[in-house]
Amino acid sequence: MCGIVGYVGPECSERALDVIVEGLARLEYRGYDSAGVALVADGEIAWRKKAGKLANLRAEIAEHPEPFSTTGIGHTRWATHGGPTDENAHPHLGGADDKVALIHNGIVENFHVLKQELLAEGVTFRSETDTEVAAQLLARAYAEVGDLTEAMRIVVNRLEGAFTLLAVHADLPGTVVAARRNSPLVIGLGEGENFLGSDVAAFIGHTKQAMEVDQDQIVTITKDAVEVIGFDGTPAQGKRFEVTWDAAQAEKGGHSSFMVKEILEQPAAISDTLLGRTDSTGALVLDEMRIDAERLAAVDKIVIVACGTAFYSGLTAKYGIEHWTRIPCAVELAHEFRYCDPVVDEKTLVVSISQSGETMDTLMAVKHARELGALTISICNTHGATIPRESDAALYTHAGPEIAVASTKAFTAQITACYVLGLYLAQLRGGPHAQEAQEVMRELHEVPAKVETLLQQMDRVREIARFMADTRSVLFLGRHVGYPIALEGALKLKEIAYIHAEGFAAGELKHGPIALIEPGQPVFIVVPSPSTPYHLHDKVVSNIQEIRARGARTLVITEEGDEAVLPFADEVISVPATSTLLAPLLTIVPLQVFAAELAAAKGLDVDQPRNLAKSVTVE
Ligand code: F6R
Repeated sequence: MCGIVGYVGPECSERALDVIVEGLARLEYRGYDSAGVALVADGEIAWRKKAGKLANLRAEIAEHPEPFSTTGIGHTRWATHGGPTDENAHPHLGGADDKVALIHNGIVENFHVLKQELLAEGVTFRSETDTEVAAQLLARAYAEVGDLTEAMRIVVNRLEGAFTLLAVHADLPGTVVAARRNSPLVIGLGEGENFLGSDVAAFIGHTKQAMEVDQDQIVTITKDAVEVIGFDGTPAQGKRFEVTWDAAQAEKGGHSSFMVKEILEQPAAISDTLLGRTDSTGALVLDEMRIDAERLAAVDKIVIVACGTAFYSGLTAKYGIEHWTRIPCAVELAHEFRYCDPVVDEKTLVVSISQSGETMDTLMAVKHARELGALTISICNTHGATIPRESDAALYTHAGPEIAVASTKAFTAQITACYVLGLYLAQLRGGPHAQEAQEVMRELHEVPAKVETLLQQMDRVREIARFMADTRSVLFLGRHVGYPIALEGALKLKEIAYIHAEGFAAGELKHGPIALIEPGQPVFIVVPSPSTPYHLHDKVVSNIQEIRARGARTLVITEEGDEAVLPFADEVISVPATSTLLAPLLTIVPLQVFAAELAAAKGLDVDQPRNLAKSVTVE
């Protein structure tokens, strides 16, 4: 997730550059792949931007010093549209005279249409980003109305998607204008200076006085004033608050660990991954993949390759992909794929899933698939990483950087992206389920709000986790899409709480694992919705009875209002109702919360478990 800083300070100190670069350093924890600054000085925009870490930007500034200035903006970018290059780094300039500089966090969904409009007017573009479109629109609007706040208002009313924008104009020393929709922005209130940031970490070294910015609001800061209006132009009041965190807490948004923060970020991770995937008629569009639609439509087999949590996201998505496309879909551990003499040819689509895009096992599987002539698509969270570069096409999850070693928000974003791909394929093929695609997309858009609701009901799950801190073994059962969720729930507990945990397909119980059940053995059961076809629900309820009869302690994750489980459940954890295939985006949440809380109760390092690395770049 990008980091954003804006600053206006007093004439006497002219230290905007220092404040901004320091703010960017404090936002480094958000993850980024390029950085840049723009200052207003002597009627011009003085800017520097560089791919890579902040050290590269600092070196660039040391080599080409920036003029003194009171006013500026700074950005750390996590690439979405366009790779992590110097050109795509922010700020982006607008207007024939480059007098506007703009930075952006989020995704402008309708940037294609807007770019065409500007190209037709003769505007030239220097980057592949959606952001540059907003910069050019802002310059055009400013030329018309001569007021940066009003120009911003005109622009935001043309943008669709999620964005925080910050802009300066060369003729306006002492002013930064910002706007926000579905993306974070907070104001820092100083004495004779004011700040803007993605979060309070950006300015916590200078002031603890802050102000919230609501959805769809525009903020104009000068050194002495802050003005807020709505996108419709009506004046608004920001809500002041005092920051009580120190700098380290601020990085984690006040949470105890990055993992907890990332679990809570899942509504945004899912909705951002859905952004820009449909056109105005509701049809799916995956232009960003730049893949030959004819070749894709001819695919007769899909193989998903991935490791760990990403593998479980593939196992989950398989059910939806096969249902919607009627194409057989196999899910292989990437490190096994090469050695199993896979039956793959040019009509096979090999989909790799990787948060980091650098997992060596997955990379090798993709290379092998290409050697065999397969079409390869990478589902990845990291722009410009090796796996998407080595694939024919990439479909990015927009979960933002994941810092905790245990993957959480990347998992739900990966399932979402796989579903988008499956639905797109179904639409391309026009089969019996093509009609369903738009309906499922509509339902998917409702999921983030349901996850948000669920996240607010996790107190009991945390209590159970604390109570179970001394547990030595936990089992997880699920059926259909609940099966990979059981596997992922067990993996989370193993990796961060170091507890023996195993996931099983509930139907497999009677074939062996039921022998493990003894009095007091805790078992989580992921129950399908009562509305799931083929009596699946009833069969899982029978499984719960079987293990309860043998003394298991049953922790049942089920749909709200499911009364059939009540007589056999020691604990019921309810999740909002949604259709069967989308339920995993909800049922995994309590299991993530459980693992994080239990690991914390044991006094373990939740974010950096022993023996594990975030990115596994060896085979
Ligand atoms: C588990 C976890 C790992 C990764 C796996 C693949 O919480 O994080 O199992 O999912 O190492 O990593 P990526 O997705 O980066 O390829």
